[in-house]
Order: sequence, then structure tokens, then C-alpha cells
Amino acid sequence: NKRIKIKELLQSKQTGHKVTVMGWVRTFRNNQFIALNDGSTNNNLQVVVELGLLDDETLKRITTSASLKVIGEVVPSPGKGQKMELKAAAIEILGDSDAEKYPLQPKKHSLEFLREIAHLRFRTNTFGAIFRIRHSLAFATHKFFNDKGFVYLHTPVITASDAEGAGEMFRVTTLPIDNPPRKENGDVDFTEDFFGKSTNLTVSGQLEGELGATAFSEIYTFGPTFRAENSNTTRHLAEFWMIEPEMAFCDIEDNMNLAEEFIQYLIRYAMEHNGEDLAFLDQRLADEEKQKPQSERSEMGLLEKLRFVTENKFERITYTEAINILLDSPAYKKKKFKYDVAWGIDMQSEHERYLVEKHFKKPVIVTGYPAAIKAFYMRLNDGCEPGKETVAAMDILAPGIGEIVGGSQREERLEKLEQRMTDMHLPVEEMSWYLDTRRFGTVPHAGFGLGFERMVLFVTGMTNIRDVIPFARTPKNCEF
Ligand code: 4AD
Ligand code: MG
Repeated sequence: NKRIKIKELLQSKQTGHKVTVMGWVRTFRNNQFIALNDGSTNNNLQVVVELGLLDDETLKRITTSASLKVIGEVVPSPGKGQKMELKAAAIEILGDSDAEKYPLQPKKHSLEFLREIAHLRFRTNTFGAIFRIRHSLAFATHKFFNDKGFVYLHTPVITASDAEGAGEMFRVTTLPIDNPPRKENGDVDFTEDFFGKSTNLTVSGQLEGELGATAFSEIYTFGPTFRAENSNTTRHLAEFWMIEPEMAFCDIEDNMNLAEEFIQYLIRYAMEHNGEDLAFLDQRLADEEKQKPQSERSEMGLLEKLRFVTENKFERITYTEAINILLDSPAYKKKKFKYDVAWGIDMQSEHERYLVEKHFKKPVIVTGYPAAIKAFYMRLNDGCEPGKETVAAMDILAPGIGEIVGGSQREERLEKLEQRMTDMHLPVEEMSWYLDTRRFGTVPHAGFGLGFERMVLFVTGMTNIRDVIPFARTPKNCEF
């Protein structure tokens, strides 16, 4: 008798047949009704234990989180709340669980508490829903790009370059940290290291992605990236997943169109395939909103927001327009921003959130950022006023999140790129492999990076990035 998953069982309208299910006990009522869950859905299967089926000793062992194998007959349920239930013919306890010691009680726990027992939180309804949706979004990502003929390029986790030039890298070394070999001038001698040079965990697969795009035309990467930025915020992780498409024969306009289409596709995919879980999170959020004073409640529910984003074009503005909107805003005039606003600033999240949440109330794509605050590989816009050079960059800002996508058209002109790298004190010689893309058949090309966890935050309506990645890595936090 083959095991059937509870989701499949509940979805099939059939009754009268015999099945085997396995799962964990959520609750056991009146020595008679087991709510059994196997993680395929938040809907528990009601298992009915008829009087006399089990001895007292066994009944006592059916506690929250004990694991069971149940063979029984699927029958229509006379009770409210479920259409069918399982009339148990045999119950085997696979693993006992000491209810006294089990940290999860059948009640609502705070997210803070669940973060402390992150190793068990998958067994709650909230995290069940979140991580099934996360799975779907990952699957949809591959489907989206595969359907468009993009090649999935696996870029390295260990690298010798700093793609973003921001110096926020985790070093990878096999040298003894207490007493590394040193050169005569006292510097650590990395020629003795595993790779014969200094290496680190990747901050982005983009540069390798460009190598792929200038051969396959269109590629995407989807992998973990690492940043040692010491920002303990609800939007930053030290280890996060990024999706980075890179397209040859493509300009900033095409890049924006693809990013917008991709985000809307992901949302639509989740709405089509994760309806139950989204409805659960929608309700959860609505309950939370009710706790807040009227003035702080969000105008839209989760599902309403998601539908809105798939049905409306994103706003597109330039950086200069964004700065002018901020300078004109009541928030600026009333000195509500913590950080100053002026052309040239790297917008802070308070500024980005003002633009999307207060001003436009929808996702916004900002282009034409000052060159001085952006990475070396972005294409210089022609015809800029001296001192006010801008690049063909595009950031997508999302309500409740801030920056969700960062991308650009790349500088395909060899001299201009070399000049920029020299100006920024980047190792032009060492990055000769990268410059080869511009030496041998250079083409206009562009790409972007979507922060996967920020996307999961957006779709689930959660507010802390630690709650949408199974094992969060943040400053001073690496438990297992
Ligand atoms: O804007 P970023 O730094 O861009 C790049 O890395 C480019 N190489 C992408 C490209 O053009 N191929 O990062 C891209 C996105 C951000 O918009 C954000 O969503 C996410 O990655 N991100 C983070 N997510 C979680 N934690 C962090 N510490 C993040 N840093 C960036
Ligand atoms: Mg960025």
C-alpha cells in the first residue's frame, strides 16, 4: 500500500478507498481525532481513532509532533471544517515525541520566538506556507528563463574578484589564521594559500555571467551570494540567493522590460500554484493589521497588492526626477528624513520607500544614477554635463521592500571601461579575462540581479528577511 501525500488525498474528491499516510501529529483531541500534517499543505488530515483500536499505552504516545503511519479508509467527514477524514484501521507510531519538551505548542507563537527555534519552525503553518511559496518561486524562475531559451549558467562560489567593487567579501583561505606566512614587508603571503592568491566568496555571478552572455546570447544565474556588510537590518542577509540574467544585444530598455515581466510572472505563478498558502498568509497579515492603529494599517491586503502589481505597469523615472520628487516632498520639507537629499546621494531606504509607498504607491524603476555611486561595469550615458556623469543603471524599488532589483546596461566600449577601472583603482591586468568580452566581438549587453529573498518577502507579505530563508546568516548569527 503506497503512501499518499495529504495534499493529494484532500484534493481528490474520492472517498471509500484505503490509503496509507504518514506525517506528524499537530493535535490529538478527545483521544479520538488526530490532526495529521505531512508538510504538503497546511490543511491537516483528520484521522479518526475509533474506540478500542489502540490500547491506553499507545494512545498516550500520540502527542504533538510524534510521527505516525496510518492505514485507513477515506470517508466523508460528518464534522465541520473538512470534507473528508481518514477512518484509521491501523496506526503505527514511527517516532515518539515528548510533549513536555517539544518547544512548539499548538498555539500561535511569535516570529521572534520561532527564529530562536529556527531548526523546528518549518513545522508551523506560517513557515510551511512561506517555504512552499519560496520553492514555487524558485521553480518558476527556471521555468521563466527556460521558456525564453536562456542558458542556466553555474557561476563559481569561490572567486578571486570583487564583482561589485564594494569590498564586502568573506575571505576564503586555508592559511593558518593565527600565524599566516608573511612577505618581507609583513603582508600576508597569499602565494602560499590554496589557490596561490587571495580568494573570497562571490558577491555576484555577474562578471562570469557576462562571459556566458557573450557566447550564448542569454544566460541566467541563480545561486547563493555572500556579503559581509555589517548591516543588521530586516532587508539584509550575509548569505542570500540572487537571480542574474545577462543578455547580449540588449539595452537598458529591454532590461527593464524583462525585469518587470519576470517579477509579474513570479507573482502570477505563485497566485496560480500557491493559492491556499497565499490565502493563509493574506489572512495572517489581515489579523496583524487589525492589531495596528487605523492610521498605520496598509491600504491593501496581500492578495490585493499582488494582483495590483501584476495588473499595472511599473512607474519609470530617472534618478534626477526621483531626487526632485524627494526635495519637493512634505517629508523633506518637514525634515522627516534622517539622511539629507541632494543630487549625487546614494538614496537611503527611507527615500526609496517614500517614492514607492507614499508617492507612486506601486513599484518604481529608477534609471540614470550618478556614475560616482555605481559599479565600474555600468555604461556611461553619453552627453552628460561634466561632473554630473550618469550611468545606464536601473534599480527596481518595491513597496514594503525598497530595492528588489539592481541592474544596468554594461559598458561595452573597451577604452571607456578600462578608463573607468583605472580611475577606480581596479586591477585592470588581473581582470583581463573580463575585458576579453570587449576585445573580441563586443556587443551591447545588459542584465540585472533580483534578490530572491526580497522577492519572497514581497510575495509572502512577511517583513523580516530572516523569515523567508530557511537558514538565515546575519551578523553574529550562524547557529547551524
Ligand atoms: O544591487 P546589487 O548589489 O547588484 C548586483 O550584485 C549586480 N551584480 C546585479 C546584476 O546586475 N547582475 O544586488 C542585486 C540585488 C539587490 O537589488 C537586492 O535585491 C539583493 O540583490 N541584495 C541583497 N539581498 C539580501 N541581502 C543582501 N545583503 C543583499 N544585497 C543585495
Ligand atoms: Mg544595488
